[in-house]
Amino acid sequence: MSSHNSGRAVFNTKFGAIATTVGSAVGLGNIWRFPYEAGIHGGGAFMICYLCFVFLIGVPLLCAEFCMGRGTRSNIFGAYRSLGGKRISHIAGPLGILASLLILSFYSVVAGWTVEYCLSSLTGALDFSNREAGHGQFVNLTTGWRPLIWTVVFLLTNFLILVSGVTKGIERASNVLMPLLFLLLVAFCVNSFFLPGFEEGIRFLFTPDFSKITSGVLLGAMGQAFFSLSLGLGCMMTYASYFSEKNRLGKTAATTAILDSAVAILAGVIIFPAVFSFNISPEAGPTLVFEVLPYIFNRLPGGMVWSTLFFLLLFLASLTSTVSMSEISITYFCEEKRMSRKRATILSTAIALAGGLLCALSFGAMSDVTIFGMTFFNLFDYLSSNICLPAGGFICSLFAGWWVSRKFISDQLTDHGRYGFGMTGAFIFCLRWLCPAAIFLIFLNSIGLL
Ligand code: TRP
Repeated sequence: MSSHNSGRAVFNTKFGAIATTVGSAVGLGNIWRFPYEAGIHGGGAFMICYLCFVFLIGVPLLCAEFCMGRGTRSNIFGAYRSLGGKRISHIAGPLGILASLLILSFYSVVAGWTVEYCLSSLTGALDFSNREAGHGQFVNLTTGWRPLIWTVVFLLTNFLILVSGVTKGIERASNVLMPLLFLLLVAFCVNSFFLPGFEEGIRFLFTPDFSKITSGVLLGAMGQAFFSLSLGLGCMMTYASYFSEKNRLGKTAATTAILDSAVAILAGVIIFPAVFSFNISPEAGPTLVFEVLPYIFNRLPGGMVWSTLFFLLLFLASLTSTVSMSEISITYFCEEKRMSRKRATILSTAIALAGGLLCALSFGAMSDVTIFGMTFFNLFDYLSSNICLPAGGFICSLFAGWWVSRKFISDQLTDHGRYGFGMTGAFIFCLRWLCPAAIFLIFLNSIGLL
């Protein structure tokens, strides 16, 4: 990606565009959030719903965001507006900005944990000897003041990358490091095979028990699909506004979805055998991965080296995701409110920082402060992932399916007829009917009306 004078970045190569899109999609959502959501929602039942959502709803929506972004070359507001949806832009825009800042808040807390774990592994301070030690350690690391510091450190790093224009450096680095993360995950997967809980873990993750598919599972799986694909907030729309005309949107969407789910599945194959070997409840929630990973590292020869490397790569994967979600509000403040990029970045970071501190305290001093029975951390996560993202996707699919001209969509998908895209009809059908109906029915179902 390189910057041009308006401060907007442009992808130079097709590979760069795909790598950055995958960089946005792959992050804590796959490695931290997927296993814990799958654990809470019954494993196999969740997995099957999740995969259906990724490919039946996620891919068409990803294409829709790509078409709208590249066709209009603007932020989420501008995209809706230039396609004739001025009123809708006033709903979809604020929804996207609000949700992206909510996500940035709690995401930074978890990314802060990765910094803490990385540094502690480097200094050899992590004690992984048994389950109690792993748990005690996590509690220690997440309840005092330290998580606040790491949240601030993470947001500042994100800030520096965004203002200093080293996006290019980060991208180059991630082009090399993300494949490395993938390889590391494959190596851990092989290691899983030798754990005593391997069979039980795999059975849990891959045997769908259809009787377990409840409204909560459907909503959770849909939220996870949106979260993991960075969908619903105009994030992919903003990124696609930097794509070149040559980018084949359908292919980019499919590649992103396949790689993204592959990383999530790998993470599941790593975590669940360890969960059962360690005798931890799969329903532990957001803390699951951090409590279980020590078990894996402890058994590996040179565990501390593996663990340092793993958390370092996870930290970088989180950064490429937070850079993308920050871009939503920053381009909005810059292009719609005429702020300088620096001011826009300061404003977004300040809001995320306030939210991030509330979320970080949710595990310690403010763990008893709950709203609708949820701590700030859980509330921010639930509100953004399960409500705002699908709602944004609902609006986007109806808009792209019914309002935007078919010619505009097909021109984008085929680069004005230069490439074939045999599935335009099916694609429009998904946008018009399948995606909105599925999202709507799941919403109704989850509030008990169906
Ligand atoms: N997809 C990222 C992950 O899995 C998180 C993310 C980045 C995101 N940008 C987003 C989620 C925009 C929702 C919207 O870690």
